Amino acid sequence: MMPNAVVLATGLLAAVKTVGAVPVAQEPGAPTTVFEDYPSPPTVSPYAISHHNVTSHGPYDGPPATTTGALSTVVLAASIAPKPPPPQIVAYPADGKLHGDQPMPFTPSGGIGTNGSEPVYKVASDFDYQSLALALFHEWIELDLFHWGLATFSDEEFEKYGINAEDRHLIQHMADQEIGHASVLANMLGPSAPKQCTYNYPVSNVREFIDFNQKLTRWAEAGVYGFLPHLNSGPAAQMLLQSITVEARQQLIFRQLGGQFPMPEWHTPGIPQSWAWTLLAPYISSCPHDQTRLVWQNFPALHILNQPNPARVNGSDAWNETTGGYANTLSTEDIPDEELCINAEDPTLDCEAAVSQNRSIPLSHPGREVFLQWDAPGKLVGPNNSYVTTTNVKEPKFAAWLSQLNVTYTPLLNVSLEERTAYTIQPNVSTWLGDPAVNGTMFMALTDIDLYVTPYNVTAINPHVAALAVYQAG
Ligand SMILES: *[C@@H]1O[C@H](CO)[C@@H](O)[C@H](O)[C@H]1NC(C)=O
Ligand SMILES: *[C@@H]1O[C@H](CO)[C@@H](O)[C@H](O)[C@H]1NC(C)=O
Ligand SMILES: *[C@@H]1O[C@H](CO)[C@@H](O)[C@H](O)[C@H]1NC(C)=O
Ligand SMILES: *[C@@H]1O[C@H](CO)[C@@H](O)[C@H](O)[C@H]1NC(C)=O
Ligand SMILES: *[C@@H]1O[C@H](CO)[C@@H](O)[C@H](O)[C@H]1NC(C)=O
Ligand SMILES: *[C@@H]1O[C@H](CO)[C@@H](O)[C@H](O)[C@H]1NC(C)=O
Ligand SMILES: *[C@@H]1O[C@H](CO)[C@@H](O)[C@H](O)[C@H]1NC(C)=O
Ligand SMILES: *[C@@H]1O[C@H](CO)[C@@H](O)[C@H](O)[C@H]1NC(C)=O
Ligand SMILES: *[C@@H]1O[C@H](CO)[C@@H](O)[C@H](O)[C@H]1NC(C)=O
Ligand SMILES: *[C@@H]1O[C@H](CO)[C@@H](O)[C@H](O)[C@H]1NC(C)=O
Ligand SMILES: *[C@@H]1O[C@H](CO)[C@@H](O)[C@H](O)[C@H]1NC(C)=O
Repeated sequence: MMPNAVVLATGLLAAVKTVGAVPVAQEPGAPTTVFEDYPSPPTVSPYAISHHNVTSHGPYDGPPATTTGALSTVVLAASIAPKPPPPQIVAYPADGKLHGDQPMPFTPSGGIGTNGSEPVYKVASDFDYQSLALALFHEWIELDLFHWGLATFSDEEFEKYGINAEDRHLIQHMADQEIGHASVLANMLGPSAPKQCTYNYPVSNVREFIDFNQKLTRWAEAGVYGFLPHLNSGPAAQMLLQSITVEARQQLIFRQLGGQFPMPEWHTPGIPQSWAWTLLAPYISSCPHDQTRLVWQNFPALHILNQPNPARVNGSDAWNETTGGYANTLSTEDIPDEELCINAEDPTLDCEAAVSQNRSIPLSHPGREVFLQWDAPGKLVGPNNSYVTTTNVKEPKFAAWLSQLNVTYTPLLNVSLEERTAYTIQPNVSTWLGDPAVNGTMFMALTDIDLYVTPYNVTAINPHVAALAVYQAG
């Protein structure tokens, strides 16, 4: 059940004043909000965002949109030129000694937002606005998606995968958590915050539902990690951080519900906003007429033709077993019963929902040939089919494997520009002590050059991206 807050929801404008007891979007010096009209301490916040249960699902079939393409203004250059690092960061002697006077006892000098200036919980730039708006689109879809799955599939079908009534309560709880996340983001965005939409899910049974969830929460999570340290508003970053850590747990839990090893990777990657938007937009069918538009790019879809399928005993023995490009989420259609790991007797091969499951046949491995096919640009996607896929790239030459802390490029082989097909070979790279860099639920892009990027400047890759996918490496 929804918390009472929903019933008392008073809409967005009222919500701009507070997030629970934390004042937001207030003028500096304005009095802190006091809950005069409510019992003290308040047990129910009336300010949770107004929302409803989405009743329509499926692809958009309305009239063509009158506005298409990403939001834009004057564009200054095709890419941002690399510059030297900030001198004060290079110059700081990291020697364990104190190098400045202390602002108060037990407190070192330095830091951002540490000088006593009052935190204001709102977006502070176009970058902040567009990034938080993107995150809000994700919270909205998750709120609907998790509820939708519970309402769509029978208890018996969940039980078949070892997902019992208590586990289903957890899924319900995770859906309800999204109300809080959406409220926090909408409060910091103000009255033009993106609203709930309608959706279409590439899912026809419980196993596919769980897989779509673990992939979607991964790109939603990685999408936030990509921009969080770049936000102008530290206070907004703080609030989002305290939501996205919960999202990270949801991702892990959906892997557990799918009988996958919960967190094979040692680090979670961050991706550019345009990657998160590219992966999300195809699953949004329509949004209200006054929906705020986003600035982010939609790249063409990359289809991983032999995307590893975690529903199989031998997950790497899969061909054309996804429910489409972008998410490349698993399909169970046409897999014989004896090849489904849910039916396996051997505990090293089975995949019932569990805290942890060893998979003795790896989903993917260094040296694996990965077969690829990509879409041409110019496809209408996203809300009301009102965004258009684009790329600058004429001829992709590399596969970029984005996982953990690394972007690793491998050459595309047997490239056919007519068929838009190629294959590449999974690299043998590691983070630390031989931990495989390519692992877990991660990302693959096709690019024209092997641009060197690191986690904080990964967005520089965008002008070189031809197509994008989720890759299921472990
Ligand atoms: C949405 O549906 C669920 C049942 O699936 C119900 O518990 C909840 O109250 C509904 N929420 C709203 C806002 O109507
Ligand atoms: C305090 O720090 C903030 C940024 O962290 C800055 O915008 C502000 O100007 C500083 N205030 C003073 C009085 O130095
Ligand atoms: C991923 O990590 C897990 C846990 O460390 C390991 O068992 C597995 O072999 C790795 N997978 C790949 C593809 O390297
Ligand atoms: C998108 O489609 C929905 C449903 O048909 C409609 O209500 C809405 O006004 C459309 N939005 C735009 C921006 O045209
Ligand atoms: C799993 O499938 C791959 C691809 O077909 C195959 O090369 C490999 O030998 C299989 N592994 C096992 C243990 O059957
Ligand atoms: C993949 O399967 C679908 C139907 O399941 C089929 O339409 C499509 O042509 C297949 N694609 C490839 C590359 O085999
Ligand atoms: C699980 O996998 C790890 C590493 O692959 C292995 O060391 C361990 O023995 C396995 N445990 C079981 C119970 O299968
Ligand atoms: C790549 O192309 C060559 C030449 O046409 C062909 O012999 C080879 O089998 C192809 N490799 C793969 C993995 O498809
Ligand atoms: C990967 O590299 C490591 C270290 O160089 C090596 O020990 C291992 O055999 C390699 N694995 C494969 C599959 O090439
Ligand atoms: C992956 O990241 C780790 C940690 O930053 C680094 O040590 C390693 O060299 C990277 N590997 C590759 C192949 O870039
Ligand atoms: C990204 O950052 C690394 C340093 O971490 C730098 O060497 C590289 O040139 C940067 N890439 C771009 C495209 O700016």
